Amino acid sequence: MSKNIMEYETVELDEQEGGILIIDQTGLPGKTEIIRLRTAKEIWEAIYLLKVRGAPAIGVTAAFGIYVLAREIAGAEKESSGGKSVVFENFYKRFKEQKDYLDSARPTAVNLSWALNRMDTVCKKAHEDGKSVEEILEILHREAKTIKEEDILVCKAIGEYGLSLVKPGDGILTHCNAGQLATCKYGTATAPIYLGQERGYHFRVFADETRPLLQGARLTAYELHSAGVDVTLICDNMSAMVMKNGWVNAVFVGCDRVAANGDVANKIGTSVVAAVAKRYGVPFYVCAPTSTIDLATPTGDKIKIEQRPAEEVTEMWYKERMAPEGVKVFNPAFDVTDNELITAIVTENGIARAPFGESLKEMCG
Ligand code: MRU
Repeated sequence: MSKNIMEYETVELDEQEGGILIIDQTGLPGKTEIIRLRTAKEIWEAIYLLKVRGAPAIGVTAAFGIYVLAREIAGAEKESSGGKSVVFENFYKRFKEQKDYLDSARPTAVNLSWALNRMDTVCKKAHEDGKSVEEILEILHREAKTIKEEDILVCKAIGEYGLSLVKPGDGILTHCNAGQLATCKYGTATAPIYLGQERGYHFRVFADETRPLLQGARLTAYELHSAGVDVTLICDNMSAMVMKNGWVNAVFVGCDRVAANGDVANKIGTSVVAAVAKRYGVPFYVCAPTSTIDLATPTGDKIKIEQRPAEEVTEMWYKERMAPEGVKVFNPAFDVTDNELITAIVTENGIARAPFGESLKEMCG
């Protein structure tokens, strides 16, 4: 019998063979393939091509990635110096170059730079504390594993807080995939759903298909269905109808970056769902680990929005091209939902409500 998708690790470090193992999410749900990433280019491309995606999973991949590359840099330095102990300055120059390279893979999800900066900070601190490069590698190893372990605990805590906002039998709508596949377990927006499932809440979930890369259809519908959750797939332009029909009691979405004023960047189409939810009086909840809250970015209009290739709109998933050759295409991967459309932001430290300028600071401690 084939393994259920919920039994796979989204991202893991291969301690025996080296490198990082990820599920190549571009093949799902048809093909489940685990691929190994060893080089900087492989890691960068896996993030850019969305083989691994979702803000927290990108962060964990980057942390493992820079650790794997740090080992390689140290090994190469040792070899070129004829086996002598590695000089930190030589090691750190290459470490910083690789860190900046990985950081350039995608601009919107703050977890990418958050995780890389965290690894950089422990690296520099260990050097200041007089550790050797060999010891620094051990510290980087521990830190990357901690980032992954924390992700699981954080998602579970978000799930508990999120669950307190809904009741058994509720209809829940979600957009894109902020599920287990976007994290290391539970997901963020799906965490209340999975915890509710364990406790017999019998939610009815509506998953937006999420054009153009279909994370809702290919990933959210797949993982919820595989977990035995009652899930109905809808096209992105159907959310108004299901809300008007009274089938949705709450919207839960994930996010890629929360600005200090509570504006939220998430998958393109999220702001439409928020506006529709406001129209029909449905609470709109954003699930955000504090690692996704960027207090250094004051408002949503300062968030860099990733633009992606036109082919994702005109050709991908179709048997033949579905738009005239040469037509102009606008393909932003994310949009910003204004804080006034957001009922609450659910973090691992509690539920933030307006005024978000104050409540988010409190959540970040
Ligand atoms: O382009 P993607 O698939 O990486 O976009 C993912 C999202 O927009 C998610 O909602 C977000 O990263 C939160 S994942 C817990």
